[in-house]
Amino acid sequence: MTVKRYDAVVVGGGGAGLRTAIEIARDPSLKVAVVSKVYPTRSHTGAAQGGMNAALGNVVPDDSPEAHAYDTIKGSDFLADQDAVFFMTENAPEIIYELDRWGVPFSRLEDGRIAQRPFGGASFPRTVYAADKTGHVLLHTLFEQALSKDNIDFYNEFFLLDLIHDGERVKGVSIYDIKNGEVLTLQTKAVVLATGGFARIYWFRSTNAIGNTGDGQAVALRNGIPLKDIEFIQFHPTGLAKTGILLSEACRGEGGYLVNRLGERFMKRYAPEKMELAPRDMVSRAIEYEIMEGRGVGEGARAYIYLDLRHLGEEKIRERLPQVRQLAIDFEGVDPVKDLVPIRPTAHYCMGGVHVTDYRTSETPMRGLYAIGECACVSVHGANRLGGNSLIELLVFGKFGGMAVREFVKNSDYAEISEGEAKSGEEFIERLFKREGKENLAQVRAQMGEITWAKMGIFRDEKSLKEAYEDLSELLERWENIPVVDKTRVFNTNLIELLELRNMLELARAVAWGALHRKESRGGHSREDYPDRDDENFLKHSLVYYDNGSLKIEYIPVRITKYQPAERKY
Ligand code: FUM
Repeated sequence: MTVKRYDAVVVGGGGAGLRTAIEIARDPSLKVAVVSKVYPTRSHTGAAQGGMNAALGNVVPDDSPEAHAYDTIKGSDFLADQDAVFFMTENAPEIIYELDRWGVPFSRLEDGRIAQRPFGGASFPRTVYAADKTGHVLLHTLFEQALSKDNIDFYNEFFLLDLIHDGERVKGVSIYDIKNGEVLTLQTKAVVLATGGFARIYWFRSTNAIGNTGDGQAVALRNGIPLKDIEFIQFHPTGLAKTGILLSEACRGEGGYLVNRLGERFMKRYAPEKMELAPRDMVSRAIEYEIMEGRGVGEGARAYIYLDLRHLGEEKIRERLPQVRQLAIDFEGVDPVKDLVPIRPTAHYCMGGVHVTDYRTSETPMRGLYAIGECACVSVHGANRLGGNSLIELLVFGKFGGMAVREFVKNSDYAEISEGEAKSGEEFIERLFKREGKENLAQVRAQMGEITWAKMGIFRDEKSLKEAYEDLSELLERWENIPVVDKTRVFNTNLIELLELRNMLELARAVAWGALHRKESRGGHSREDYPDRDDENFLKHSLVYYDNGSLKIEYIPVRITKYQPAERKY
């Protein structure tokens, strides 16, 4: 049994994990491990297209961190913690200039300053970008920075099996080497969960990488850590109709229109001022209403409306939206330079995540356990995230969380890991290999995808959510009877998919549980049986957790420091 020691273990090699690891590793006396189930430059951060928000004021000097904070809080349907939001928006500009110094090739204004584009729900053009490949260049720059640190070891293509802890403090992690099937124990003083989101629970229609299965959140949940505001899922308005692949909000930021079958810019009915640049929750619902009322093209699951970029002209599309154009050509068979692009909302982002108890440190209720990025809920997005706020979130909280971890590990000791604890990961894997049963992995996963979309999607109600909860509970029982058909240990994707499916099922059920109990509509959570926001009863964060094997729910207050909740109009 191999046991290695690190001051800190960061699980996740995407933007959140890398930014955090870089910060911890600034002290050369500390040893840091980054554990990633894919090679880091294949992480889902690389799929982020449109940009990240920071009030640089390069296009409109009146912009300010305060305006950024207000837009974020209003966009969140007033569920974000306002002190955390101000912390993010005030630190955002310096984080962007740091990236500039590290070599991120930002798009530029004529005078050489960093360019900024309009994005949904923002009062100024605030989103900094690199054409429509912002996440890709960010990820590569962060990876370069991390590689330059001699005190970071990478565990690439390792899967997180479990946390090792004594109920109060974390002691290590158990990880599985996908390349050869070996189980390793890393003993550590601090674990940072930075495993990204889990919108792949909507298996058939999501912008997310296939690997976005919420491994960190699921491990936290199973170990008694609450998930906060887990019911809030974001549906991005412009997924390609056939596949759900993301076409960036930058399309609309650059001036693209949404039109229905009749050629109408229908957003005038729903957000007369902001039109296509209203927040995502509103635009996604508007598209669905158009389809329900017969103004979409086609019917049912295959129906769509159009994104119209033709008036932008070929030059602008080539310069600002080259990836969008290629995706439309490759996956939908249309060229946005001359064709309308069929689109429909697609599952994109999880506002909820591992309960962070202090936004300045990103710590969770378990000592030594931290969470950063989409895996975490700080909360700065509340019930609906603004486009461009996820990359800036992971950068700001990655930096400050990393600083907090650095201080914590310098003042802590390792806790003993018993032989039994060190062996538990390998024993679990052996049990899975020996498992017999008649269930089929692909069938259970497909059923999950159908349940999540139909019963806990853009619109929900009591009946659909109860059914979703029950159906997903049944699938979890069936998961116990899915055998590992491939008995080999080298790159066993069958085993990894089985582990990922358990994580998705548990998280999907937690979403259903949180959504069932939130009897109101707020942001991305739209209940047809409770169509209004109910501040009297639900201006509060949910905490979903396991108690003796059953899901429970509690609530904690939202921190409102400046802006009283008001009706959201755009
Ligand atoms: O539309 C986009 O480019 C996605 C951005 C985001 O989710 O922040």
